[in-house]
Amino acid sequence: MSYFFYENIMDHYKNPRNKGKLDFYDSEYGDSNPTCGDSVKIYLKVNGNKIEKISFEGSGCALSIASSSILTEMVKGTNLDDALNLSEKDIMNELGIKELGPNRIKCVALPVKVLKMAILSYKAKQL
Ligand code: FES
Repeated sequence: MSYFFYENIMDHYKNPRNKGKLDFYDSEYGDSNPTCGDSVKIYLKVNGNKIEKISFEGSGCALSIASSSILTEMVKGTNLDDALNLSEKDIMNELGIKELGPNRIKCVALPVKVLKMAILSYKAKQL
């Protein structure tokens, strides 16, 4: 494990950005990883087609919390369709991770999936 990888994950794990429930939000979605029970919930405040505010709550391993934290930083201010294109690889790149085994990729995939479901749920309400 590289020093950068470890430090970056531990920074976001110990000082998660955008953690907590938004006072006012347009969409929320939560889910858990069935293999370990760790959970993530994401709140979105949307303005036009952009994510104006985003926050998360959750309990889980360092990698899932760090991924949730960095994900919120990456998509804040972006439009909904760009955020829908976010992948696990994008999060890994931002955290400085080159490769993950199948058990650990699930820790990154959970917040990505929850974000996408929160966006799709918001879009469904606009129809
Ligand atoms: Fe549960 Fe990482 S071990 S999400």
